[in-house]
Amino acid sequence: MAEVTLDLRNVDKARAYAELDGHIRAVLDGVDDPITAMATVSCLVHHAFGHLWTGFYRVVAPKLLRVGPYQGTLGCLEIAFGKGVCGAAATEGRTVVVEDVEKFPGHITCDGRSRSEIVVPVKNQEGELIAVFDVDSEHAGTFDETDRAGLEKVLGWFAGR
Ligand code: SME
Repeated sequence: MAEVTLDLRNVDKARAYAELDGHIRAVLDGVDDPITAMATVSCLVHHAFGHLWTGFYRVVAPKLLRVGPYQGTLGCLEIAFGKGVCGAAATEGRTVVVEDVEKFPGHITCDGRSRSEIVVPVKNQEGELIAVFDVDSEHAGTFDETDRAGLEKVLGWFAGR
């Protein structure tokens, strides 16, 4: 196992995601427990980039997300599908990038310092939505296409990709 926690804050973003993806897959080699994987991904993505909040909301009922493994300040415990950025990503089944949370109607404020965020749907091998992965930044406009592609690749682990 690759027993280090990478700090990639000074690395070009595309390269950072490529390195992080390889590292996460090495650490998770042989793991088949999704909760263990969620805790590991939260830790490694959080410390790689140093954003405000990094973690999972799991699908626990047909239209309900409940907080799962995360790093950061206290997260809201439950989010209904359709509510906030997480609920939008869950309902639409696609990654949602928000450059300015104040301009996203219905954004749910867990940490008042959050200014921008990205939420990526997480699917299992059967293609069912099992969670969303939420990363929040204290700066506006932090996330872009490189983050979307990089995080979608990392989270493909849960679908066996
Ligand atoms: N910002 C999210 C809520 C979750 S937290 O910020 C941890 C949203 O609007 O979906």
